[in-house]
Amino acid sequence: MKKRGLLPILMLLVMLEPPPTSAFVGQPVRARHGLVASTHEVASRVGVEILQRGGNAVDAAVAVALALAVVHPAAGNLGGGGFMLIRLADGRTTVIDYREMAPARAHRDMYVDEKGEIIPEASTVGHRAVAVPGTVAGLALALEKYGTMSWADVCRPAERLAREGVVLTHAEAESLKRAAQLLSRFPESRRIFLRDGRYYEEGEIFRQPELAETLRRLIEHGPREFYEGETARRILAEMEAGGGVITLDDLRNYRAIEREPLRTTYRGYELITVPPPSSGGVALIEMLHILEGFDLRALGHNSADYVHLLVEAMRRAFADRAQFLGDPDFARIPVKGLTSRRYAEALRQTIDPKRATPSATLSGGDAFAYESEHTTHFTVVDAAGNVVANTYTLNGSYGSGVTVRGAGFLLNNEMDDFTSKPGAPNMFGLLQSEANQIAPRKRPLSAMTPTIVLKDGKPWLALGSPGGPTIINTVLQIILNAIDFGMNLQQALAMPRVHHQWMPDQIVYEPFGLSRDTIEALRARGHAFTERPRYMGDAQAIMIEPETGMRLGASDPRRDGKPVGY
Ligand code: DON
Repeated sequence: MKKRGLLPILMLLVMLEPPPTSAFVGQPVRARHGLVASTHEVASRVGVEILQRGGNAVDAAVAVALALAVVHPAAGNLGGGGFMLIRLADGRTTVIDYREMAPARAHRDMYVDEKGEIIPEASTVGHRAVAVPGTVAGLALALEKYGTMSWADVCRPAERLAREGVVLTHAEAESLKRAAQLLSRFPESRRIFLRDGRYYEEGEIFRQPELAETLRRLIEHGPREFYEGETARRILAEMEAGGGVITLDDLRNYRAIEREPLRTTYRGYELITVPPPSSGGVALIEMLHILEGFDLRALGHNSADYVHLLVEAMRRAFADRAQFLGDPDFARIPVKGLTSRRYAEALRQTIDPKRATPSATLSGGDAFAYESEHTTHFTVVDAAGNVVANTYTLNGSYGSGVTVRGAGFLLNNEMDDFTSKPGAPNMFGLLQSEANQIAPRKRPLSAMTPTIVLKDGKPWLALGSPGGPTIINTVLQIILNAIDFGMNLQQALAMPRVHHQWMPDQIVYEPFGLSRDTIEALRARGHAFTERPRYMGDAQAIMIEPETGMRLGASDPRRDGKPVGY
C-alpha cells in the first residue's frame, strides 16, 4: 500500500472545517425572493402564496395575521390587537398601532374593591377584562395604505382554513389542552376549542365554521363589518350576557393609528422600532445605548461579566418603563430623554462592574412573576425588499377565555396591561405607574417590540417575539447575538436568554441556559435568580444577506414555527 503523507490528511481536515456561517443549531432557511417566518407553517405558507401571486409584504402580512387567527387561536386573533412595523423598499417607514383601547365605561378603579384591593382575575378572565379589539381595523389600515391586493383576496385563505379545517399539530393540540381550565369556564369556548371536553388530538382536523362565517361576512361587507355589522352585534350580545362594558360606540369609535417609528443607531447599524404605547422600542433603545459603551464581544457570550452588564441595563430600562411609560395620547412621556445617548451615558456611570445594583435603590416595589405565554410575532420580506414585522396578541394565552357566541373568535384580556393599582404587579409581575392607569379610550402599555435593523442603509434584520416583558429582552439579545457576536440567524435565535425586569429583582434564565459556575459568579456579585428556569420567547426573524440579497429565515427552536420562502 502506498504511504500517504500527513499533508493530504491535514488538507482534508481543513476542507471539513465548517464554513464561517456554520452553527451548532443549524442554518436559517434560504429563499431568493420572499420569505415569511411565523409560528405556524400553514400561516407562513399562506403568506408565501400571496407573495407568489404578486402581493407585497403588507398584503402577505395581513393574510398571515388572519390565517394565524385560525390556526393559532391562543394568540393569533381577530379579538385582540398589536403593532405592525413596515419599511417599504423606497425607505418609507411606519407603525400601524392597532393596540386595543379601554372602553368608554372603563375607569381607573374598575379592578379594585371598596377597600382598594385588587379583585382576583377581574382584569384577566372573562368579559370585563376585554379591551376594544383593534386587529381588524389595524390590518385594514395597513392594507389600504400600503398593500396592493383587495381585502377579500387577503381574507380568503383564512376563511378557507376555518371552513375546511386544519390538521392540528402536536403543539396546537397540546396548547388547547393546557388552556382547558380557562376555556372550560365559558361554554362557547369549551364547545369550540375543547369539543365539550372530548379534547382534540394532534392529527385531527379542526374546523371552525362560526369563525369561517365571521370571515365570510368580513369578505362580503369589508372590515367595518366587525365594528358596525352583524359581528359587532354578536360582540355586544356577548358583552351583555357576560357583564362586559363594551358598547356599540366603543366599537364604532375604535381607530387604528399610524405612528412615527423610533430610530437610533447601534454600532453603525440603524434601528427602527415601535414607539409608545409600546414600551418595547424605548426600552430596547435605552438598553442598546447603555451597552454600546462596552466591548461585549470581548466579555464572551453569556459569561458572568456579560450577563451582569445585560442585567444591569435591563433593570434600569425596566425601572424607567414602570415609572414613565403609558399611552402617549394621555400622559406626557419623556421618550426623547429616555432614548437619548446622554441619558444612557449617565445610567452607564451608575453600573458597578463587580456588584449588582439592588433594584429597590432604583425605585420601590415588590412583585412576583407569573408566566403566561401567548402573543405571536411574524416577519415578512418580499421580492422588492419591503419588510413587515408584526406582533399581535390576545394578551394571555387565549385572552380572556371568552369566545363571542356565534362568531367563533376569542376576545383579549388586554385590560390587564393597564395599571390596575399602582404598586401591584400585573400578570407578568410588572409594576407600573399612573402613566398607565385605566382611562376611557386609552391604550394599555405594551412590551411588543417588532424591530427592523438596517446595515449600510439597507434592511438587514427584522424580528420580534411574544413573551410579555421578556419580549424586549429577547429582541435585545438576538440583536446583540447578530451584531456583537456575528452569529448566524438561526443561532442568534437559539442561544439561551436571560431576563430581568427591575422588579422582581431576579434574573430569569432558561433551562440549561447558564452554567453553574456562571450562576455562582453572578450570585457572588449580588444577583438573585428565579427559582425555576423557564424558556422564553418565540422569535421569528428574517435577515437579508448583504452579499447575495438572499432572504434568510429563522423560527425560534423553542416553539413550533417555520419559515417558508420561495
Ligand atoms: O402587550 C404586551 O406587552 C402583552 N400584552 C404581551 C403579552 C404576551 O406577550 C404574552 N405572551 N407570551
